[in-house]
Amino acid sequence: MTIRVGILTSGGDCPGLNATIRGVAKALYQRMGDKVELVGVLNGYDGLISGNYREMKQDEFSGILTRGGTILGTKRTPFKMMRVVGDDKVDKVSAMKKTYKSAKLDCLLCLGGNGTHKTANMLSQEGLNIIGLPKTIDNDIYGTDVTFGFHSAVDIATDVIDRIHTTAGSHSRVMCIEIMGNKAGWLTLYSGVAGGADIILIPEHPYDIKKVAAAVERRRQDGRNFSILAVAEGALSLEEAKQKRKEWSAARAEAGYTTATNRIAKEIEAMTGAETRICVPGHMQRGGSPSAYDRVLATQFGAYAAGLVADSHYGVTVAMVNGRVQANPLADIAGLTRSVPDDCDMLNVARSMGISLG
Ligand code: F6P
Repeated sequence: MTIRVGILTSGGDCPGLNATIRGVAKALYQRMGDKVELVGVLNGYDGLISGNYREMKQDEFSGILTRGGTILGTKRTPFKMMRVVGDDKVDKVSAMKKTYKSAKLDCLLCLGGNGTHKTANMLSQEGLNIIGLPKTIDNDIYGTDVTFGFHSAVDIATDVIDRIHTTAGSHSRVMCIEIMGNKAGWLTLYSGVAGGADIILIPEHPYDIKKVAAAVERRRQDGRNFSILAVAEGALSLEEAKQKRKEWSAARAEAGYTTATNRIAKEIEAMTGAETRICVPGHMQRGGSPSAYDRVLATQFGAYAAGLVADSHYGVTVAMVNGRVQANPLADIAGLTRSVPDDCDMLNVARSMGISLG
């Protein structure tokens, strides 16, 4: 009997998606030979809704270990809209179930982040055979110590911080680098530590601008002519943390600051007189080839997922816990976020290095 395995990538892309797709495919072909057929669903859940899929050939999975992005394409299809019927009158959940059936899938592998996992869980509860694989540069999927894409992004952001060091020193400036991560500060924390940032500001730990300015002043008094701030996209001041998102984003817009980084740079300039500049590496952090770490992780996760398919073990997502790959029930992790906890070891490491957390 032949088994038909669907695979899709959903949400923001990252390095390691293709390496994971390859890992799954190679391990499946290795186990099942011509008893397995792979079906690529294009552009994430959007392709599942519209019936945009195609059968893949074995050689399409070769030569993609190092390739960035995703050969299947991806799209953000928000979970909260899945049960909302829009102007196009399409019932998305029924449409996804219909595509699964018409493509004659025995199971569907969903590679993605938190939103992807919420929809994966919903489809599983609707009776489809689903396996998740944890992707995101934010490293914020509940129940796994690490997601693929994270370490590649840490490498890229660290390289940015390294390069900013030299220009900051030449110009005696305070440089504020905006690192991706709206809700979780893992990427900022790890790249900040790896890049030797002086101040690290993350969403989970609202900052006091007076403490930030004092840290800059302290460095000046110690004879340092520059300071480097690693600021998460989603960093919030103590005052903002007490407000609703709508309130603080309206206040920022009125003040002409689109992001926390802009605001922090201006405030430091006003409070310390130091010349400041901001640097936003943005989507570069999601681009290019996966790091060696991520290639290994993606291959481990892919091979494990192939084992789950072989065992017909569905309704789960792949995870790394204490160095071992395991399967977590989708229902246990969907809708939860893995934030940086107050007692996080790496926060303590940062503190012990004299890094200010604001
Ligand atoms: O979820 C990954 C992520 O890169 C976040 O760090 C970032 O806030 C967001 O995606 C950016 O999304 P988009 O690619 O839709 O601009």
